[in-house]
Amino acid sequence: MNFKVNDYDKFAEKRHFEVTNGMKKSLRFVEKPMMLSMLPNIEGKRVLLLGCGTAEESEMLSKYNPKKITGIDISEKSIAIAKESYPNCGFYVGDMLNLPFKENEFDFIFSSLAITHVEDKDKVFKELYRVLDDNGQVLFSVGHPMRFATEKINYNGNNFHVIGFEAGSDGKQVLGKYMSHTKQVNHFKDNEVLEEFIAPPSYYFEILKNNNFVVEDFKESRCIDECKEIDEAYYNRFHEIPQFMGFLAKKTKE
Ligand SMILES: C[S@@+](CC[C@H](N)C(=O)[O-])C[C@H]1O[C@@H](n2cnc3c(N)ncnc32)[C@H](O)[C@@H]1O
Repeated sequence: MNFKVNDYDKFAEKRHFEVTNGMKKSLRFVEKPMMLSMLPNIEGKRVLLLGCGTAEESEMLSKYNPKKITGIDISEKSIAIAKESYPNCGFYVGDMLNLPFKENEFDFIFSSLAITHVEDKDKVFKELYRVLDDNGQVLFSVGHPMRFATEKINYNGNNFHVIGFEAGSDGKQVLGKYMSHTKQVNHFKDNEVLEEFIAPPSYYFEILKNNNFVVEDFKESRCIDECKEIDEAYYNRFHEIPQFMGFLAKKTKE
């Protein structure tokens, strides 16, 4: 089969169309409501969108009157669409492991479902620390292990994503890897393949602490009620099982 892992260039136009038309349920009903519920006051602030993709989130955040919005993403095609769609912001192609920005250049970093793609998270947070001003904040979301560190099993003829262990026996069967920082490869329709490095909340609390960030807020996502009438099955699944988790952290002195 002909596919490339994390091919955000190939799917940029489709993603832009789907997000702007409210077709991405995971963003519309789960991830973005969680992020907005955690958003601090960004009025007058210099904002960086890290892994902004086609940057629909720039429109969402511009309503809160930041001083300036800058976006960066590794996908050239996504950035080309972002530049065309949101000309009031500044966009760059670049890697979050090596940001093309100066020390203390931003007051707030917003990163939706992008840090989860990078294995060397310690390096990412060192870069975020460098480009954030004193007391600057980062709000980010990543995949939750309850959804993305699962294993698929067939039970009574139906497919389930599970984390668990075999009860009662010698305990040899363990399904899923909740506690590890694990590579997960997910196949979606149209041969879209996404690779993520999934880790539990404790992993992020520790890495943030080691990089001199203080966690100010933490949330596990919950599908909002508005989804119920549109897709009840999706609502039922992700109202009870967290798909994503969000962290709001503040830069402190070393
Ligand atoms: C799931 S998309 C999220 C896009 C956007 N934040 C949103 O929520 O709609 C993940 C994005 O992370 C970007 N990305 C992955 N690895 C990256 C890296 N090392 N540096 C910068 N961007 C990266 C991808 O190109 C992709 O656009």
